[in-house]
Amino acid sequence: MRRLLMILTGSLIVILSGCTKYEIPAAECPEDLPTNVSYSADVQPIFDANCVMCHAGGQSPDLSPGWSYDELIDGDYVDTDFPCSSPLYEVFSGTHDGRASDEELLTILGWIDEGAKDN
Ligand code: HEC
Repeated sequence: MRRLLMILTGSLIVILSGCTKYEIPAAECPEDLPTNVSYSADVQPIFDANCVMCHAGGQSPDLSPGWSYDELIDGDYVDTDFPCSSPLYEVFSGTHDGRASDEELLTILGWIDEGAKDN
């Protein structure tokens, strides 16, 4: 009986830790994303202010005006089904931590969530 209890507790711990591991990425994706985001009026200015000093030409993706949209779409940098799994977003929880403000990241996520349109 004790042994069975130990096995049960053990498997419960394994199952539960499996759950937390699964939930962490989900929690990182905010629920109330901004809507009516315009690529040209809202997203490109973020790139102009924070990214083009490095990402214009040599460094992929090219985020300079006129090039950035095609680069992001053709290069699969956005995932409209799972916005928070987009490489364009994930880079900010790694090497690019702090290169855009939380508000700017929400704008980018909102744009992806609405279908990453060239609007
Ligand atoms: C100081 C220079 C610098 C700035 C500023 C910068 N980046 Fe980068 N970025 C890099 C370098 C270098 C890499 C490649 C190595 C890495 O992932 O850090 C990179 C990689 C990336 C990648 C992944 C590329 C790939 O093919 O996997 C994305 C997406 C990206 N940057 C987006 C951005 C965005 C959006 C901004 C502005 C908010 C930005 N970067 C600002 C230098 C920069």
